Parts: sequence; structure tokens; C-alpha cells
Amino acid sequence: MSIGSSIEVTPIPQQPNSRRNLGAVATNLDVNNLSAEDWDVIRNALYEHSVLVLKDQAHATPKAQYELTQRFDPQSENYGHGKTLDAKRSILHPDLKTIPHQPQVQVIGNGFVEEFEGLKNIQLKHPHHKTFHKTAIPEEEDLDFTRFYRWHIDAALYDLQPPRVTSLMAVKVPKGRTQTLRYDDGTGDEMAVPLGTTAFASGYTMYDILSEEDKEFVRTTKVEYAAHPYIWMSGAKSLSTGLGLVSDGLEIPKSDLPPIDESKVLVLPMCWKNPVTGQLALQVHPSAVEKLHLKDGTVIDDLKKVREIVYKLQRPGIAPELVYAHDWEEGDMVLFNNQGVIHSVVGAFAPDEVRIFRQCNLASSAAPEGP
Ligand SMILES: [Fe+2]
Repeated sequence: MSIGSSIEVTPIPQQPNSRRNLGAVATNLDVNNLSAEDWDVIRNALYEHSVLVLKDQAHATPKAQYELTQRFDPQSENYGHGKTLDAKRSILHPDLKTIPHQPQVQVIGNGFVEEFEGLKNIQLKHPHHKTFHKTAIPEEEDLDFTRFYRWHIDAALYDLQPPRVTSLMAVKVPKGRTQTLRYDDGTGDEMAVPLGTTAFASGYTMYDILSEEDKEFVRTTKVEYAAHPYIWMSGAKSLSTGLGLVSDGLEIPKSDLPPIDESKVLVLPMCWKNPVTGQLALQVHPSAVEKLHLKDGTVIDDLKKVREIVYKLQRPGIAPELVYAHDWEEGDMVLFNNQGVIHSVVGAFAPDEVRIFRQCNLASSAAPEGP
């Protein structure tokens, strides 16, 4: 608590031997009425804990959600994917519906919704890993077992810069069972997760646990993202961990993509600096990466090799004991540092299990700051 703010910030409890280093809960606040002091507390807590759960905000308006999200980047005002989601071939196209009176805020979830914030008769669909992974959990185990769907940063990664912060608010949550999440990568790794959790892994921890040699590599390497990445990857399939794609040559050829403006291709540092703590996060969208630019000027453009390098660097950071799996309650507004964590949808709902979330993020006004 700070002078002038009543907000209480409490780190999310964890096992004594846990190496996890993210997640805090903030209580005693009202997103519709934030004082300047409240804002300072929220911003500092977000950049310290990477994921900040604002409890009991069911009454928060889409406008207040937008304004809070925008406060992290006052120069920006457009949704993080711009209009790119309109492209029917984008793999993100079916997942999001725009709120007409607050177009930076999207509705995501599951099931049929008659009316919500001016949207009428919308069909929401929680993505299932079987539509994206090369292999799937067998049908008969599907109720009990699940996977990370797709680890990602919320970002268009072409033309637009990655949003600083995403806000995700649970409007309606079917009270669920627990599932066992399997990595299915031969390690035997698994973890118990609440149904439909959102999983977060810290890019800071991902960086901190690397060898000194790898730290040097990631500090000095840049990542080139594919043009129109979500169309480009639409033919490809994911690894069972959701941490990147299998290299079967199924990406859409450049000649079949919308026109490519080379000046809009993003080449970003592999590590992004925390604006409050100065820490470095290893931040790569593993499915959208296409090339690596090394410090000596070498460009690695063998896609299979690029993915193998990135996977080796990121996989230790999504170990079960490092993942925070949020157990959603209605009224939770989760803010996460989109330039300091990667996250994934998890689980599967039955068609009649209705879930409504509101999501907001804004294309950043500047490229993420490197080391
Ligand atoms: Fe996301």
C-alpha cells in the first residue's frame, strides 16, 4: 500500500521450493475510478510481478478497461492486431469479436451468447489443441488431459509493434473441473490445471536460468518475424508443448501471402528490458519467428534450425514449476506484461459451456527496448 492508495498487492502463494517468479493479486480498487496514486501502485506491481490479478472488477466498463490498458502506453490507441484479423486466412480470425462501441476491446470465450456489449447472437469458440497441434490427446482422454494450446506474445508482429500490456477480464466463467496438462514431449512433465486456465511463463526467469553463454547469445541476437505471420503459419502444425511449430514445410509460400512490404517486417531484440526493474526478459513468439540475426551479421534462415535454437532457449522456462496457471473467477481483470511473459490458452470446453472474456491490448508506440 502506498500513501494515497488503498490498493493491497499480495504475491500469489506458491510451493516453498518453487522457482516461479510471477503473479500477484491486487485488491481494494475500482478500475472505473483510479486515482493517480492507484495507477502508480498498479504500474509498479505489474512490472514487478509480470501478472497482476485485479479482483472484483465485474462492474468495470469496456471504456475503463481500455483506459487502464492505454495508460501503460499513452501514445497508442489502436488494437494490437490492427485490422489484420479481418484476413479470413489468419489463424486468429475465428477467436476474436470486436466490441462495437470500444473497438480496442475484443470478446473471446466459448459458447453461444445472445447479447453482449452490443454484439448480438455471437458464437464464441475456445480453441482446442487438436486444431493446431501435429498430434492430439486421444478423444477418450480429452476430458481429463489437456495441453498448452499455443505459447505466444499478443502481437501482430508485422507492421505493428508488440503491445506492452494486455488486460483480460473474466465476465462469465463456467465453474470447472481440474485437468492434467501434459507436455507430451518425452520428458514426462505434467501439471494439474484448472479448466480453461490461462498459463503464464516469465521471460525474466526464462532468461535468468540460461547458461552464461546462452545469455550472451540472446542479448546479442535479433529475431526476424515472418511477414503476415498468422496467415503464413496457418498451414503448419504445433509441437505438443505449444512452444513453436513443427518444420514440415507447411507454411504458406510468400507468393500466396498478401503483398509484403519489406519495411513492415519486424526484426526485434531477443531480450526486452523491463522499464521499472531493468531486468531482461527472453521474449520470442516461437511460432512466428523466421530468421535469426547474429551479432557478427550472420543470418540464420534455415527455419528448422531457427526453431530448434529458439526452442532450446525457451523450453526450460516453461517447466511445470515455473508456470503460473490462473484459476479464473468472474470479475478478475488480469493485467500482464506482454513484453515480459509468454502465455497460452489451455483446456477444452463443451460446446454449451459459456465463457465470456474481454481482452484489450494496444500496438505499442515504440519497439520494445533491447539490452
Ligand atoms: Fe493471447
